Amino acid sequence: MALERRGIDAALGAYLDGATTVPGHIAARYDEHADHPMSVMMSHPDIGRLLAALTAASGGRAVLEIGTFVGISAAWMAEGLRADGHVDTLELDADYARQTETWLARVGLAERVLVHVGPATDTLAGLRPAAYDLCWIDADKAGYPAYLEHAVRLVRPGGLILADNVFGGEDVVDPANTEPRVEGLRAYLTAAVEHPELLTAVIPIADGLALSVNRGPS
Ligand SMILES: C[S@@+](CC[C@H](N)C(=O)[O-])C[C@H]1O[C@@H](n2cnc3c(N)ncnc32)[C@H](O)[C@@H]1O
Repeated sequence: MALERRGIDAALGAYLDGATTVPGHIAARYDEHADHPMSVMMSHPDIGRLLAALTAASGGRAVLEIGTFVGISAAWMAEGLRADGHVDTLELDADYARQTETWLARVGLAERVLVHVGPATDTLAGLRPAAYDLCWIDADKAGYPAYLEHAVRLVRPGGLILADNVFGGEDVVDPANTEPRVEGLRAYLTAAVEHPELLTAVIPIADGLALSVNRGPS
């Protein structure tokens, strides 16, 4: 498993790898997809451990993920669940969804991580309000502002909303870049910071994480 970190040199990276652990089934999943053309989409273990810790800190009963890919971050969040907790993960691509379900069954997680296939906005519309402790947003960037609105409705007061890639590979700082992906990321951060029910911080790890606490209506 040789995943890159941003802004961390090789020596510090080696130290961090030695000082931390990756559960065996997740390490094997990284390895299986190391040569996948979209392998960069797998969340780095530094992010995974953060998600696992925040899942546990937020209660670990119910987690919502938007963007499954091959199940890496879902499996990390499952590490932080209570014994009766679960993850609902949403994936557009039927092949990724099916492959992930097969893998989850193989590693004994099929009962705890449920994959929902289809456009996230369709699935989100049918979910129960305030049912989740934490929502992890990691799908199409143009959809982020709409996902934030859903997340505010679906995460209980006191719960957490996290969004990956808010730096957009640093494209967000180029005013000439008006791609829907980049505009979506800018709009997400503005909305998360200005939202009256959210308290939002940006963690400059990897490609930028936005972490919001849902304080609920005042
Ligand atoms: C960055 S990857 C997710 C990586 C995963 N969360 C992880 O850390 O291992 C983004 C995923 O979102 C999916 N996706 C893109 N648009 C979507 C949509 N409209 N609804 C649901 N999933 C979508 C993609 O097919 C892709 O698998």
